[in-house]
Amino acid sequence: MKDPGGREDAKRRAGEAAAEAVEDGTVVGLGTGSTAAHAIRALGERGVDVEGVPTSYQSLQLAIDAGVPLTSLAEASVDVAIDGADQVAGGDLVKGGGAAHAREKYVDASADRFVVVADPSKEADALDHPVPVEVLPDAEPVVAERVRGLGGDPALRAAERKDGPVVTDNGNLVLDCAFGRVDDPGGLAASLSGIPGVVEHGLFVGLADAVYVGTADGVRVTEL
Ligand code: 5RP
Repeated sequence: MKDPGGREDAKRRAGEAAAEAVEDGTVVGLGTGSTAAHAIRALGERGVDVEGVPTSYQSLQLAIDAGVPLTSLAEASVDVAIDGADQVAGGDLVKGGGAAHAREKYVDASADRFVVVADPSKEADALDHPVPVEVLPDAEPVVAERVRGLGGDPALRAAERKDGPVVTDNGNLVLDCAFGRVDDPGGLAASLSGIPGVVEHGLFVGLADAVYVGTADGVRVTEL
């Protein structure tokens, strides 16, 4: 299969390197998306003695296919979470390209160590990627209005192989909210969290402990 710019290889390198660093006997938060998928497959291939806490139906199924045993937050606490991102600026992230950011956030935030895996196209000087906001379905119009009040431009995410909107694993809708360059991610995160009807938004501020970026021939690791 063609891989323009080697992006898929870079994702694989990042995911595999993060999986390689996982120690025996640990509980691993299993992120969502194509980069985290490489880590899940690598954990299965290594045959390392870990249990995984999935963040979506996608990561649940990938873990089953890869032979990674599963557990839950009710039974275990997460030692290390490995998850992708749509944009990385310093240690701050925009996530939610797979509409899984609500579960991702509480799993990643609960981990002793949260490792972000990405390819170089995700790196930026400042966050300017639209911020996914998961909303209770009935609340969508009023949340959209409040987002406009914060200077954002909300767009209801449309499904691709279903008529109508994306419905998340939690049964909610997603507004992709363009704010342009976000100079104060912490302030915007707090404002979005304060809107009634918002389930979770995709700004992950100060949560990451390390970023693994796959490159053309290796992996660049930044400890935060
Ligand atoms: C899912 C996410 C993903 O981690 C993010 O969209 C990155 O995906 P990919 O690794 O496929 O580029 O936040 O909600």
